[in-house]
Amino acid sequence: MAYLVSHPDEVKVISRRFGKGATAIDRYLELDGYQAVRKALEMGPEGIISEMKASNLRGRGGAGFPTGMKWSFVPKESAKPKYVLCNGDESEPGTCKDRLIFEQDPHAVIEGVMIAAIAIGSHSGYIYIRGEYRYLSEIMQKALADAYAKGFLGKNIFGSGYDLDIYWHGGAGAYEVGEESALMESLEGKRGVPRIKPPFPAVVGLWGGPTVINNAETLATVPHIILMGGQKYAGLGTPRNGGTRLFCLSGHVAKPGVYELPMGYNLKEMIYEVGGGIANGRKLKAVVPGGSSVPVLKADEIDVAMDFDSLMKAGSMLGSGGVIILDDQTCIVKFALRTMRFYRHESCGWCIPCREGTDWLEKTLQRFHNGGGVAKDIDNMKYLAENMLGRTFCPLGDAAAMPTIAFVEKFRDEFEDHLEGRPCPFEKSGAERPVMVEAH
Ligand SMILES: Cc1cc2nc3c(=O)[nH]c(=O)nc-3n(C[C@H](O)[C@H](O)[C@H](O)COP(=O)(O)O)c2cc1C
Ligand code: SF4
Repeated sequence: MAYLVSHPDEVKVISRRFGKGATAIDRYLELDGYQAVRKALEMGPEGIISEMKASNLRGRGGAGFPTGMKWSFVPKESAKPKYVLCNGDESEPGTCKDRLIFEQDPHAVIEGVMIAAIAIGSHSGYIYIRGEYRYLSEIMQKALADAYAKGFLGKNIFGSGYDLDIYWHGGAGAYEVGEESALMESLEGKRGVPRIKPPFPAVVGLWGGPTVINNAETLATVPHIILMGGQKYAGLGTPRNGGTRLFCLSGHVAKPGVYELPMGYNLKEMIYEVGGGIANGRKLKAVVPGGSSVPVLKADEIDVAMDFDSLMKAGSMLGSGGVIILDDQTCIVKFALRTMRFYRHESCGWCIPCREGTDWLEKTLQRFHNGGGVAKDIDNMKYLAENMLGRTFCPLGDAAAMPTIAFVEKFRDEFEDHLEGRPCPFEKSGAERPVMVEAH
């Protein structure tokens, strides 16, 4: 059971049922549960999609694509069945929000999938949960069984004449399967490697049918939008970045946790007000603002609004909402190494720039951190990462390259401090805590 945090600046929309026993379907019903789907059935597909467009909700899985627009791309007529997929693979380091939704408010995910299905004319949905979240699958499966038992799923839902089935599916624990097309391969029982795009899932997706795939938080937000109205939801955030989102504060922050804050909330305030500042009275060195795959920000770059557009302007990305805080005792070379070790491990190996690039980068960073680096390694790492960018089948290659380039560009001095066989200055200075785990 997760420990829930709270702060007065929070605006609780998605998290408003957290800690209130909403996993039990009767309690969920007391808390307005399954009202939105009834309303959606009356609104019909066009009404739902226009409300979603008005909400300015952008996907919470990482790329920030406008949800209403994504749904509108699905063809109205299709010879093949259409599908809705809930992406609950949540594997981006620093991201731990979907987990909380599955644990605290699983019916909101189901209701979100239902509304998406009605919007695009689909009669089958899947909730795909990462392998390591096996413990949450029981909660999710029970929630689905309870919804069936009440007659909310299956034939003729709410007496509307509309049939809708939703299935749970567990992953096997691969980051790459969070990528939408790899997730579809996995659901179809194949190895989880991505598909070439185009065609995009909205046209040719699961089993060749038009498919909407959304992140679990995106879908759990949908019932709230339908109930409160798109415009009201949009007004909680900034222009083009509607509403609130769950921000996951982790690392060297005094009060880590998942906080729901308006889009556009200032990052500095998020760290110092909401997160209580840097743990153990230390100083801030850097922040990775959107999960491990986005470029790092230096301590003097954090006076920025946390929305997709502002962070893009600041040279980083909002990504999956994982805000990783690094204090002044953190060795950036070691952090870059730990990050690359993850991507090397998770590369599916299908294309060469990613498979070989992540391996080379990890080995170089490891040698560098061990004191075996030479000056030209620094530029070579940047050059290698730059040559991975945009040259891989799926964005995992970019996800490995982008942070590496930023680490080298912004913390070159720390790389230079490791040269000529010098031991890591941070380990030498006697930082008491182990910053990273070395073992593979
Ligand atoms: C390597 C990789 C891993 C991803 N992992 C996830 C994930 O765990 N969860 C997620 O929702 N999206 C993940 N995505 C993004 C999905 O491909 C997709 O954009 C997203 O599910 C769309 O939902 P949204 O529009 O609601 O954000 C990943 C993308 C890549 C390239
Ligand atoms: S970029 Fe990496 S994860 Fe994506 S297809 Fe290529 S090898 Fe696989």
